[in-house]
Amino acid sequence: MIVNFKTYSEASGTKALALSKILEGVQRETGIQVIVAAQTSDLFPLSQHVEIPVYAQHVDPQPQGGHTGHIAPEAVKESGARGTLLNHSERRLELATLEECVRRTGVVGLTSVVCANNVATAAACAAFEPDIVAVEPPELIGTGRAVSKAKPEVVTDAVARIRDINKKVVILCGAGISEAHDASSALNLGAQGILVSSAVVKATDQRKVALDMAREMSRFT
Ligand code: G3P
Repeated sequence: MIVNFKTYSEASGTKALALSKILEGVQRETGIQVIVAAQTSDLFPLSQHVEIPVYAQHVDPQPQGGHTGHIAPEAVKESGARGTLLNHSERRLELATLEECVRRTGVVGLTSVVCANNVATAAACAAFEPDIVAVEPPELIGTGRAVSKAKPEVVTDAVARIRDINKKVVILCGAGISEAHDASSALNLGAQGILVSSAVVKATDQRKVALDMAREMSRFT
């Protein structure tokens, strides 16, 4: 279960640390692997203070050196992050750039999570051989209408198409996942995990929402 902190104020700075600690507790309690995808500015402090994996939300392909404003994969790795999202619908990349980012993360030793907005893109992304592909229909992101409920065929079709191309990539789905049941439905449809954001980050009781989802998922393991 990857919790994407995006740039939500509820998951920035000291609040990012508090939420990461909560999610660390959820992993401990349920045995479900929980990963946080944090803002670049929070990668180092979070990595220092929590044991669950901390991922970036984006990296650029440029190496360390004279590339002002870019996020070098090496720097992300040195900050303690263990992986990164790539090509999120809110931070899309051109195909050639995405391919280079996947290659660079592999060289540096970061886990790559490539997001795909639909079935065809998911299949194309799987051909780049990232570690994880996450299918997220953008029209459902942040709506509270779960992909596993509103568009289950996107998940099943993506799983089938990805598996034709790549037998070992881990497949996640996300967008609108809000209820514990949405998380278990995702697994039922063939996904191996979820990518979730607003339902957890913006919840009044973040621990309860994340814990309920993880508990439901643990029934599948
Ligand atoms: O990266 C996860 C994300 O885009 C889904 O967002 O708020 O619909 O869970 P949300």
